[in-house]
Amino acid sequence: AQEKFKSIITHAKKYGFVFPSSEIYDGLNAVYDYGQNGVELKNNIRQYWWHAMVRMHQNIVGIDTAIFMHPTTWKASGHIDAFNDPLIDNKDSKKRYRADVLIEDYVEKLRLKAQKEVDKGRTRFGDDFDEKQFLQTNPRVLDYKKRADTIIKRMATGLENGDLADVKSLIEELDIADPETGSKNWTDIRQFNLMFGTKLGASEAHTTELYLRPETAQGIFVNFLNVQKTGRMKIPFGIAQTGKAFRNEIVARQFVFRMREFEQMEMQFFIPPGAQKKWYQYWKETRMKWHLSLGMGARNYRFHDHDKLAHYADVACDIEFNFPFGFKELEGIHSRKDFDLRNHEQHSGKKLQYFDANLGQSYVPYVLETSIGLDRMFLAVISNSLQEETLEDGSTRTFMKIPEVLSPIKVAVLPLVKKDGLSEIARGVVEDLQWEFNISYDEKDTVGRRYRRQDAIGTPFCVTIDHQTKEDNTVTIRDRNSMEQKRIPINQIKQVVSQELDM
Ligand code: GAP
Repeated sequence: AQEKFKSIITHAKKYGFVFPSSEIYDGLNAVYDYGQNGVELKNNIRQYWWHAMVRMHQNIVGIDTAIFMHPTTWKASGHIDAFNDPLIDNKDSKKRYRADVLIEDYVEKLRLKAQKEVDKGRTRFGDDFDEKQFLQTNPRVLDYKKRADTIIKRMATGLENGDLADVKSLIEELDIADPETGSKNWTDIRQFNLMFGTKLGASEAHTTELYLRPETAQGIFVNFLNVQKTGRMKIPFGIAQTGKAFRNEIVARQFVFRMREFEQMEMQFFIPPGAQKKWYQYWKETRMKWHLSLGMGARNYRFHDHDKLAHYADVACDIEFNFPFGFKELEGIHSRKDFDLRNHEQHSGKKLQYFDANLGQSYVPYVLETSIGLDRMFLAVISNSLQEETLEDGSTRTFMKIPEVLSPIKVAVLPLVKKDGLSEIARGVVEDLQWEFNISYDEKDTVGRRYRRQDAIGTPFCVTIDHQTKEDNTVTIRDRNSMEQKRIPINQIKQVVSQELDM
């Protein structure tokens, strides 16, 4: 798995998807730049989300709010007081860890052990397998599960009540070692706020302390009434936005999975108080359908219900994706009740209520939130897409089986040779297609090598112009996945590609 992950990172750099930020100065930890193909893929993911959420729902509209917000926003949202990570250092190695991550990793191992036993049972008993009965007759496996739950509960309670000493005792009782050095010599745990601070103003005397937003959601909450009134929105309705968020992550690793500057795609759905159960279910299903529509394999997704809730959440779950380093959070679905709007009412002194004509009364709406990291989705796509296959002649082919709708380049146009007027015909094809599709024109090297280059960035179609084109106005169109080629009339390329892409 480690090897696979490394090869994804190398591939992403080699083919212009992701570069380390300011690389000529040796990069900046957990900050990345997107290259010429990366930005196209990222734009396509954002657009695919926007279309599904905003265009396909007549009761959801989009906005784009500023990264800088009035500092009181973060007091009201709870981020100043509660947006912390519990840090612990190892005294010997001087390495810093998140205490909750150390404990969760330990628990994950216990759960894996239990899962392995259950899987063994399933293989043994086949169709007759009954998991409940199996657990009752195998107390050891049940014990793993129970222990895992008990540990998580104790950690969650400790963190919630600020009893960091107990969380440290838990680490000691579980005999958790520094994953890199094995040392068990730990410091006390302390809370560390994840927000980046900055200053606004020209002179020392007149500066205002600001934060870079750690989530895009608050820009939506503070504009709730603006949008509701100007858009004449009726509950239930949603507001969506995409944009940058910033977090001073401590354990920033795993490439674009956990970054200090990243992009979110969030939607807040405003509902009557008490209706959260129904809408939580609706958005869980709707968001999972969105993921599955990309065809990256149902087996690669699962729900994970939170036992440790964020400071604003009433009930919450993640959609997890099977990354090269295991199942990890890709998207969060949270029931936030009236937590945010009510706190903004208190801190701003402004009413943030909605008059419900059906009920004949005003109320502070409840909120259901869907929140997905664009960069994480990007990583899910590229890690799932990179494939290697052995061809009939024994050679290997590396290709990116990116869902076609997301591919950075949709069609590569390739003249077989530069001369004999083939380039000119090919450039004509480019002109004809480039408004509709992102096109790449390539005339360097043998056509075989050009195919490989397009395979490596996931281009679904290659159109080749050869000498026969001059005779009968046909071209070959090659399919990325099957490598099959067929001849089609030159004036039907647009139609064929649109049909295949379902666009
Ligand atoms: N408004 C709710 C919220 O921000 P979150 O679970 O903290 O919830 C939502 O973040 C999503 O943002 C996550 O599921 C993840 O995809 C993405 N995300 C969070 N922190 C990230 C980071 N440091 N780097 C990349 N993506 C991140």
